[in-house]
Order: sequence, then structure tokens, then C-alpha cells
Amino acid sequence: MVNDRKVAIVGCGFVGSSSAFALMQSGLFSEMVLIDVDRDRAEGEALDISHGAPFASPMKIYAGDYKDAADAAIIVVTAGAAQKPGETRLDLVNKNVNIFKSIIPQIREVGFEGILLIVSNPVDVLTYAAIKMSGLPESRVIGSGTVLDSARLKDALGAHLGVDPRNVHAYIIGEHGDSELAVWSSANVSGVPLHDFCEMRGHFDHEASEKRIADEVKNAAYEIINKKHATYYGIAMSVKRLCTAIMRDEKHILPVSSLMVGEYGLEDIAISMPTIVGRNGVECRVPVSLDEDELAELHRSASALKDVIDQVDF
Ligand code: NAD
Ligand code: LAC
Repeated sequence: MVNDRKVAIVGCGFVGSSSAFALMQSGLFSEMVLIDVDRDRAEGEALDISHGAPFASPMKIYAGDYKDAADAAIIVVTAGAAQKPGETRLDLVNKNVNIFKSIIPQIREVGFEGILLIVSNPVDVLTYAAIKMSGLPESRVIGSGTVLDSARLKDALGAHLGVDPRNVHAYIIGEHGDSELAVWSSANVSGVPLHDFCEMRGHFDHEASEKRIADEVKNAAYEIINKKHATYYGIAMSVKRLCTAIMRDEKHILPVSSLMVGEYGLEDIAISMPTIVGRNGVECRVPVSLDEDELAELHRSASALKDVIDQVDF
């Protein structure tokens, strides 16, 4: 039995608590369970966030355990170690796969039937691990993937072009990490091809601008972690966007990480591609066209992830 008004968050550190704060304000749910191995942390966050609810909409927010999450519509997993300055996301893999070995079986044991939203890093490898460990249909296990990176891309392009980032249609795909790529070939601003829009705004050196912006997006997390030790507001808004697409059955296209089944010649790997997301999770991946270079880069990204998956003992 799934309770459509309930969400649970596993891991109440920077990312989990910011996501809880964003979800409290969303009005999507009336009950939120916070789970953490550090019970005091979960209780403290539950109290603090509850005290904001009278300014939003009424909500029951409490520290709980997996039994409380059994009937949640969505469980968001943000537990695990985060990067320290100088570390890559892939460096976290062994530590966080071990943490998943304790979390995912507990979710399975309580008979959870909702959508499992994976945020912990490396998110593509952990989404794959969660699919294997949870026994849930693969369409109900979603990684936040490059939703955040695509928001960073839209933000940077919006600033470059002096236009509302919501009018920018452009995706980062592949690994949420160092091998990700921007799909420039189909990027557009409200239907106007990107290069035409750039020229309209007085920018003519497309190659240099694209390289600068793609590097800025790829390195955003490193820059933030160097400066403030963690990233959490951008991902919290991404979690809220994903929960909205799911709970409102929006069938919104978002670049989430999910199990590939032959698309672009990729299979048995979770990686981000634009995907229709609705109440049942992943509905289908959208076959965006890629040019030859983008396809080669996507394959390089997938094999970087495959190398890591092959070394991990699930
Ligand atoms: P954090 O250290 O602040 O919080 C991690 C929390 O997980 C802690 O409260 C810890 O007690 C809890 N935890 C550890 N093991 C647990 C277990 N077995 N069960 C339940 N809770 C457990 O870290 P953070 O900054 O919140 O980052 C969390 C994760 O999110 C990291 O892996 C980070 O890399 C990732 N992240 C992902 C994205 C993304 O776009 N996908 C963005 C930012 C951060
Ligand atoms: C991000 C995290 C660290 O902010 O994955 O991109």
C-alpha cells in the first residue's frame, strides 16, 4: 500500500536536510520521515524543519526508521560520504556501496513499493547498485543524475545570453561527474538554434564559449566544495523538481540516471539521458539526436562508469 502524501529521506546531512527543507515548502506531501544512523541528527533536523512548516503548509515531520518509510511514495537516499576537496565522485564508490549494502536491504525488507530516488555519489554507480540490491522494477529506481548539471548549464547559458534560464533547452548527459558532456548539437533557446541565438546576442566565438561553459559546469562542484566544503542547495531544488514530476505525474523530461537497455548501444549501466518521468518513475528515455562526437563522448563516459562497476563487489 503506498501513501501518496508521504516521503522519506535516508541521510540527513547537508543534502538530506536541504532536500527536506525544500520538500517541506513544496506542498507535495503532508508527512515526511527522516532516517539517519545519527538519530540525534535526524531528530534535530525534523524539529528545525517542522518549525518552518507553519509558514508553508501543515506537515508531520519526524525522525523514524525503515518501518515508517515502508508506505512512502518516494524514498530519497542521500546517505553516505561526500567528496572532500581534491576527491572525485568516483573516489567515494567503495565507502558508499558499503553504506548502500546496509540501507537498501532494509528498504527491501519492509516491502517498499514506491519510487527510490538515489542522490548519493557516485550517483550512477549507486543507482545501478540500488537496482540490483532492491529487487524493485528498474523503472522505479531513479538517480538524480545530471538534473543538477543541466540546471547549472541552463544557469550559465542564461547569464551568457541574457535570457531566462527556463527558456534554455540544453542537457548535460552521461556520468554525473568528470566524463559528463553537454549536448550542444540540439541546444536551443525557445526553438531558436543556440548558435543563432548567440549571434543575436553578439556572441560569435561558439567553440570557445561552449568549452568555457561546459568546463565551468563540470567543475562547479569542485569549486563549491573548495569554497564551502559541500554542495546542497542546487541538489535540494533538483530533488524537489524530481519529486514534483513524480507526484504530479507530469511526464516531464529530465536527464535522470536509469538502467539503459540498448539505447545508443548501451546496456547494463545506469547513466543519464533525457527521460520522461511520471508517477511510475521512468516512463521511457527520449531518443535525442547526438552528433558523431557526442555519441563517442557518451560511450567514453559509459565505459568510465563500467570500469568502476566492474571493480565493485555488489
Ligand atoms: P553529509 O556527510 O553531510 O551527510 C551524510 C549523512 O549520511 C550523515 O548525516 C550520515 O550520518 C548519514 N549516513 C551515513 N551512513 C548512513 C547509513 N548507513 N544510514 C543512514 N544514514 C547514513 O554529506 P552530504 O553533503 O549531505 O552528501 C551526501 C551525499 O550526497 C554524498 O554522497 C554526496 O556526494 C552526494 N551529493 C550528490 C549530489 C548529486 O547531484 N547527486 C549533489 C550533492 C551531494
Ligand atoms: C554536485 C555533487 C557534489 O554538486 O555531486 O555536483
